[in-house]
Amino acid sequence: MCGIVGYIGTQQAVPLLLEGLGRLEHRGYDSAGVAVLGPGKEGRLRVAKRSGRVRDLAEQLPKRFAGKVGVGHTRWATHGPANDVNAHPHTDAGGAVAVVHNGIIDNAAALRAELAGAGVELVSDTDTEVLAHLIGRSDAETLEAKVAEALARIEGTYGLAVLHSAHPDRIVVARNGSPLIIGIGDHEMFVASDLAALVRYTTRVAHLDDGELATVTTAGFTTYRQDLSQVARIATDLEVDASAYDAGEHESFMRKEMLEQPEAAERVLRGRLDERFGTSHLGGLDMEARELRAIRRVKVLGCGSAYYVGQMGAGLVEELARIPADAEAASEFRYRNPIIEPDTLYVAVSQSGETIDTLLAVQEIRRKGGRVVGLVNVVGSAIARECDGGIYLHAGPEVAVASTKALTTMYLAFALLALQLGRVRDLSIADGRRLVAGLQRLPEQLGEVLALEPVLAELAAGLAEAESLFFVGRVRGYPVAREGAQKFKEISYRHAEAYQTSELKHGPLALIDASVPTVAIVPDDELTDRNVGALHEIAARGGPLVVLTHDAVDLGDLPAQGQVHRVDLPRNERELDPIVITIALQLLAYHAALALGHDIDKPRNLAKSVTVE
Ligand code: F6R
Repeated sequence: MCGIVGYIGTQQAVPLLLEGLGRLEHRGYDSAGVAVLGPGKEGRLRVAKRSGRVRDLAEQLPKRFAGKVGVGHTRWATHGPANDVNAHPHTDAGGAVAVVHNGIIDNAAALRAELAGAGVELVSDTDTEVLAHLIGRSDAETLEAKVAEALARIEGTYGLAVLHSAHPDRIVVARNGSPLIIGIGDHEMFVASDLAALVRYTTRVAHLDDGELATVTTAGFTTYRQDLSQVARIATDLEVDASAYDAGEHESFMRKEMLEQPEAAERVLRGRLDERFGTSHLGGLDMEARELRAIRRVKVLGCGSAYYVGQMGAGLVEELARIPADAEAASEFRYRNPIIEPDTLYVAVSQSGETIDTLLAVQEIRRKGGRVVGLVNVVGSAIARECDGGIYLHAGPEVAVASTKALTTMYLAFALLALQLGRVRDLSIADGRRLVAGLQRLPEQLGEVLALEPVLAELAAGLAEAESLFFVGRVRGYPVAREGAQKFKEISYRHAEAYQTSELKHGPLALIDASVPTVAIVPDDELTDRNVGALHEIAARGGPLVVLTHDAVDLGDLPAQGQVHRVDLPRNERELDPIVITIALQLLAYHAALALGHDIDKPRNLAKSVTVE
């Protein structure tokens, strides 16, 4: 949430900051702002900020906003509404300090009261403003010491960048729980909360660890611990293609990323399937067969869609490896003082690798001696670094807030993990080979589902008219329904509720009538008859149905046209069908949102990468 960008070098900062902010808008888009230090020994600090999008800020920016040092921010409101005053950067009373901040200061109320008591006039509702005042009021000599002193008073999380007019040759940055990257250029340096903001200028980067600060000047960077003792951070060259961060000819990132799913699926599977032994190779797990065999339980942790795909993954592990497995929302896990068992394998799932709830769950497990592996997309992210091993997803950059291709690769990574766990236990070589063949067919089948877009678009336009919808499935299909409902609600803003099909008659059937459609997941599997029975119960009450199914499924004599629509999807192995069906649900959500005229990539109130609790 929220995006940070900073520049120090030989070029004018503002155009680069605005460009970077535009690329970070998926992280927060209720307001934006920049601060620059003007030329001269004691550079003048100038700030421009306003609610709305980065383009609104760019339009109102005064022409003469010169300076070769600057920081910028896109906000996702936590403290106080989205308005011009609450937008970042925040300044101290003397106007010498500018701070941009991601994260939450938990003791902000106490610090605000203390500052107010000392006669400081706080102008915004934000937690960040206290940081600007604390830095501004510090008597320490260096900017680094001022920032460290202020941070010592803070409880909470932060990724931040600070400018000071008395120290115009530097940006000081710090990290604790919110990402901060330093980009190294030629006589110019960048800072950002996300690679997307700097990848067009440099791919040579250094990551800060939690509790670290850095001084960034045109000549380079120096990193410190909070006691200002130096710590070495080595820059690495990332192999990234800057064009992957562009939507290209696509009308939205979400559409682009949905269409990229067959390739992303190929990438996550590449080099990891073993046809001969019907298993997978996962070097990054760093676990021997003996250790895999010793696992007695698998616990998956993730948030939002990563949690739902985690539930699909836990199902795969139980089914293929016969190890008890379940998934839990990482945001809840830590707060119930969970029992951490030495023979449980904990699996943290995250696209961004920065989701704070998942990160904190990983840290809690490791603190108590548990072993955690990560299924993570962003290389070098906090969760990836915190885990004992893992599987990188290789989905490529995901920009749209609604997760699509990352989710698909998460599912496939689970399939690889389950296969390997299964094959060192009871899974037969024949079943292993059957699943390997299924996985090899998958990328093409995902393309076949994407080719059904026109049919799904038409159905979605109808669904978009309903105020409220159900998404139902059973066993393997239930987490699929949950993910389908999640995607639908987050971008269409319609109330979409997932239920186990079997639970309908225990309550929710009361809501079914002609105005409440149900999207039903009815694969050709051992539960087909039961599922079809439930469809009849819905139809008998006048409920419209969209049935995602397979051509072999006989739906019986359900009412004809208008009321019931079936979409026959490509058939894989029954264990792997969930991901094929998930793609159809993405298309339904996407086209419903499109029909309703929503901004697909920036759904209201949401942001990519949730770095606050
Ligand atoms: C939904 C969505 C979110 C994320 C969740 C976890 O489409 O994108 O629910 O799945 O915020 O994010 P990561 O995977 O980055 O940990």
